[in-house]
Order: sequence, then structure tokens, then C-alpha cells
Amino acid sequence: MSTGRLAGKVAIVTGAARGMGAETARLFAAEGARVVLGDVVDDGVREVAAGIGASARAVRLDVTREDDWEAAVRAALDAFGRLDVLVNNAGIAHSAPTLDCKPDDFRRVLEVNLVGPFLGTRAVAPVMGESGGGSIINISSVQGMVGRAGLPAYTASKFGLRGLTKTTALDLGVLGVRVNSIHPGGVDTQLLREAAGGIELSTEVVDRVHAHLPVPRVGRPRDIAATSLFLASDESAYITGTEIVVDGGLIAGIPGAGGR
Ligand SMILES: NC(=O)c1ccc[n+]([C@@H]2O[C@H](COP(=O)([O-])OP(=O)(O)OC[C@H]3O[C@@H](n4cnc5c(N)ncnc54)[C@H](O)[C@@H]3O)[C@@H](O)[C@H]2O)c1
Repeated sequence: MSTGRLAGKVAIVTGAARGMGAETARLFAAEGARVVLGDVVDDGVREVAAGIGASARAVRLDVTREDDWEAAVRAALDAFGRLDVLVNNAGIAHSAPTLDCKPDDFRRVLEVNLVGPFLGTRAVAPVMGESGGGSIINISSVQGMVGRAGLPAYTASKFGLRGLTKTTALDLGVLGVRVNSIHPGGVDTQLLREAAGGIELSTEVVDRVHAHLPVPRVGRPRDIAATSLFLASDESAYITGTEIVVDGGLIAGIPGAGGR
């Protein structure tokens, strides 16, 4: 019998080939969970799963495809016999000011970041209900709390995901399924570096860019994984339909006189 804060639980993590998805899958497994890792990057996700070992399985999961979701749920049940947790982590960004943002790019971002978690929720909730309940964790962003110039599609998708979280929490309570959203600020992953123009930057430099924050550094994937761990575990049993901002204080307010 495994031990840890997620002992006995089975989780699906999307976008698990790298970044915070990979870190979340590793932390969940270290805390006793068995994990199905999904991504569109086959090699990457297999490599992360292999690094975890026998308590992990890799599947090709494009979150925009209903048949992929069905296969992922089947993989969890076939390998581990139950399903308790879903982390809707997969996401893409597209930078373009509103008038330069092409409708097809806008739709593509919504399809992955918002329709994907909706499809995932529909696929897992009945199965979780049969296991006695579960926890769905939607990785939104601080751009689900405040707007950001030049990111219309991403901001709309992340606000949408926050709204979807509230309604699904209300609809799925009857199944014993809790649903919450996490709102990271800047986190040191490929996505952040690509948004910065793909320039090679050391963590020290990225930290320096974030030195004005109350917590004066960039976020680490582990900061987000640890929050997902809490929401996945029974420690958060009375928490549903809410949001946790994990941003080092980025959107706490407007720094004023006397501040740094
Ligand atoms: N890095 C940040 O600063 C930051 C801040 C706030 C929120 N977020 C959110 O956190 C989540 C994880 O971001 P990250 O920084 O680890 O990004 P990342 O780009 O490092 O990883 C994202 C993963 O999602 C996968 N993916 C993309 N499209 C997919 C699809 N259709 N189906 C399945 N997988 C798909 C990619 O292959 C990749 O492995 C995203 O939802 C992102 O929007 C990131």
C-alpha cells in the first residue's frame, strides 16, 4: 500500500510532457498517486512517464478531441482501476494585440484552453462519481483575473476557464466532484520563455525580472504543482468552486509610495 498525501488516488494530468504538467505528475506520484500523463508530444510525455516508473502511464491526449479523452479515461481504468483527479493543465498562448489577432488564432486558443477542459470534465466526472467523487483542477492564469494588453485570446480563455470552474463545481457537487481553479503568475517554463520571444535566459535573469514582486522571484513549476497537490488531496475536501492565485503577489494591488 502506497503512502503519501495522494495514497490510493489515480490522476490524469494534461500537458504533462514538460513544464508544470510534468512537475505536477512527478509530485503526485511522489505523494503516492498513480498518474496518467497526456500530451500531444508523444516522445516527451513517454519520457516523463518512464522517469516516474510503474505508477505512471503515458497516453496521446489532444485535449480538443473527445475520442482522445475517452481513451485516456479508459487507460486510467484499465491500468489502475479508478479515477479521482484531473488536472486540466494543457494550454497554449498567442500574443497579438486585439486588432492583429486573427479569428482563427483566437478560436485555436479557446479550443485548447477552454473547450479542452470542458471536454475533459465531461469525460471524467461520471467515472469519478462511480469512484465516490473526485477533484478537478483547472490551471487558469492571473490572466483569468485581470486583463493583459496583447493577449486577447489567452485572457478570454483563462477568464472563461474560471467561469467554467464555478458552474461545473455547482453542477458536479451531486457526484462528489470538486472543481477549483489555480491562477499562476509568471512561471519559469518554456511557455514563459516563448512569450518572451524565445530568447535563452538563465533562471537568475528571469528571477531578476520578477524582483519587484512581494515574493521577489519568478514562479517555479513546483509552486503550482504543490497547489494542485493540495487541491487534489482530501486536505481540501471542503473547497470547491473557488480560485487560488499563485503569483508571488503580482496582482495583489498597485505598489505605492513606501513600496519597493
Ligand atoms: N508559464 C507561465 O508563466 C504560466 C502562467 C500562468 C498560467 N500558465 C498555464 O499553465 C499551464 C501549463 O503551462 P506551462 O507553462 O507548463 O506550458 P508549457 O508550454 O511548458 O507546457 C504546456 C504543455 O501542454 C501541451 N499541449 C499543448 N496543446 C495541447 C493539446 N491540445 N492537448 C494536450 N496537450 C497540449 C504542450 O505540448 C506542452 O507539453 C497552461 O495552461 C498555461 O496557460 C502558465
